[in-house]
Amino acid sequence: MIKEEDAIELLNSYNQTHIVNLLKKLDEVKKQELLEQIDKIDFGQIMELYDNTKKEIEIKENKIEAIGYLDKAKLTKEQKEEFDKLGEEVIRNGEYAVVTMAGGQGTRLGHNGPKGTFKLDVYGKGKYLFEILVDNLQEANQKYNTIIPWYIMTSIENNKDTVEFLEKHNYFGYPKENVIIFTQSELPLVDVDGKLLISKDLKIKEASDGNGGTYSSLRASGSLADMKERGIKWVFIGGVDNVLLKMADVTLLGMAIKKNVQIASKSVVKANPHEKVGVFCKMNGHPKVIEYAELPEKMAEEVDENGELKYGESHIMCNLYTIDAIEKASKEILMYHSAFKKNSYIDEDGKEVIPTEPNSYKFESFIFDAFEFFDDIAILRGKREDDFAPVKNKEGVDSPKTAKELYEKYWNRQEKN
Ligand code: UD1
Repeated sequence: MIKEEDAIELLNSYNQTHIVNLLKKLDEVKKQELLEQIDKIDFGQIMELYDNTKKEIEIKENKIEAIGYLDKAKLTKEQKEEFDKLGEEVIRNGEYAVVTMAGGQGTRLGHNGPKGTFKLDVYGKGKYLFEILVDNLQEANQKYNTIIPWYIMTSIENNKDTVEFLEKHNYFGYPKENVIIFTQSELPLVDVDGKLLISKDLKIKEASDGNGGTYSSLRASGSLADMKERGIKWVFIGGVDNVLLKMADVTLLGMAIKKNVQIASKSVVKANPHEKVGVFCKMNGHPKVIEYAELPEKMAEEVDENGELKYGESHIMCNLYTIDAIEKASKEILMYHSAFKKNSYIDEDGKEVIPTEPNSYKFESFIFDAFEFFDDIAILRGKREDDFAPVKNKEGVDSPKTAKELYEKYWNRQEKN
């Protein structure tokens, strides 16, 4: 491990004198903990990310085109049957695994705890988001006579609470040996002057480094190796907060197989130009998602010759990969995006500061930034009312209220059919 004098030199060279001062004040146990942390942090990388926050994101230089897709509702009967058969075979053979990304903070929802432990008020009794995911997997297990291994990614922050919750609820009846929980990595938070924040426990304050870390965390945690051992050929990766998410859609899977692509994704048509979803496009010939916060106004509003939004295929976090694609993505370095957020910290006098305005940068990589490492992607356009009812905000759009309505309407329709 790094020696104290070397740590001080390192910190000084990166202008982190407040951490040097802190280090000198700590007792031996705390000092060792901090040194251990300093040893693991790549300060060069963090400072580069900080410097990048001052640069404009350049999208203009690239060649951007609309993406192609197949509309599930417009497939011919023969096409659909062919896709379904191909997809079903993979799932029946036990060659299919599902990953749920559950490392997010869920700040916008204002729920105290991991997002999957949020209870949606449906059908009187209510259902937890994790429970809704289990329902969906169990339905597929029954239909295809298999047990799909379920990998759940947590964060260092919410891992304990997630595990305790799932244990308490007996994994909602999911066979425990087929639930594999792994944890994603973190990066330090940096203030506007490039200083790393200090946390309450007198360490460098870190936070989850975005869902793009899923691939490398799958590998680092041994989950990828576990998948290979189980003979998995296709891996679905989805979010925790869409109560209509279909994690084992045989049409999507079969379409990917038929088209001989390594990655595939389900989309829905964007509700309006400013909906907070990433949109698919092709950039320099490769598949790409541009996140809502980074989509230029002009692109958001552009329409094609049919009057439809040119960049209207929304990324709903319903993504599919061959096992080789996961392996490849796990070895690539994804770009980082920065978000300017409110983060509390301990100041030089040892007092906790709770900011009322954004004060620091959080660096995150995004799951879909791996798409550009591939030549092609197969996109299946689904239907909003069947596929997308996210729980994001406390009130208004994408809130528990809208998700409840969509969920109950969907299940009422299923019962009638
Ligand atoms: C996300 C997508 C956006 C998409 C929208 C659809 C990303 C970066 N953006 O936006 O393109 O249109 O959903 O609903 O994916 N997560 C982690 N670890 C992290 C951060 C997030 O596991 O460090 C998980 C969350 O638990 C959640 C998912 O990733 O399951 C999405 O994260 P969130 O921050 O809610 O993304 P959105 O802004 O909603």
